[in-house]
Amino acid sequence: MRRRLILGNWKMHKTVSEAEATVQDLLDRMKDYRGPYEWGIAPPFTAISALRTLREGTSMLLGAQNCHPEPQGAFTGEISVTMLQDLGVDFVIVGHSERRHIFGEDDAFIARKVRAVLDHGMTPVLCIGERLEEREQGHTEAVVKHQLLGSLAHVSPEEIPRVVLAYEPVWAIGTGKTATPETAQEVHAFIRTVLRDLGADAEEVTILYGGSVKPENVTNLTRMPDIDGALVGGASLQSQSFAHIINAAFPNA
Ligand code: 13P
Repeated sequence: MRRRLILGNWKMHKTVSEAEATVQDLLDRMKDYRGPYEWGIAPPFTAISALRTLREGTSMLLGAQNCHPEPQGAFTGEISVTMLQDLGVDFVIVGHSERRHIFGEDDAFIARKVRAVLDHGMTPVLCIGERLEEREQGHTEAVVKHQLLGSLAHVSPEEIPRVVLAYEPVWAIGTGKTATPETAQEVHAFIRTVLRDLGADAEEVTILYGGSVKPENVTNLTRMPDIDGALVGGASLQSQSFAHIINAAFPNA
């Protein structure tokens, strides 16, 4: 059975004390949650250590938003997978569209990160997704396939189920324009065919949807057979809305 996950990506938001206050409130709200979804937060690097202490003994997963694939070295400003492992991080977001498009990361670099995260016993949350013009030109499947093949280049078919995928259409991120459940489902199903062609047990792979997920739309998205949860940006910044999303995710997992 594949994992069901609701993960928050805080991006570049919250000081340490703000992060602590939000997570404390979130833990209070989630303490009686018995639903089928695992849940977690990827705060900025600066708040990971403080949140590690707070989440001890709880079911909250702790994530990072990026990493460098090398264990150490002359890479000013970077954070290595070894450092994240040392902080007790469970999952690492790699290849987010903001990393790809604002910071110029390519599939070859992202593939090294995926490998490094796996090698250090953490879960890579690999983001893929097309831009608006690519969708309008009918290139969605080609773009997604290209990203998948490139980013999974160093992962064997047997290991692919250890990678969590997040389909995040770039045009839906932070825009309030969610993909319809049907549009997202179509791409998620396509992703499984690509994984199958790679030789992986595609039914075992968790595929999240991301892009303007809100309490109001999460039920219908996660109701879809190939959507196994959500990667949530803006609506994860407030404990109330994030707890609402986790509780509203389709229950019959
Ligand atoms: P929003 O939920 O703010 O659209 O962000 C989605 C995202 O980029 C999560 O990684």
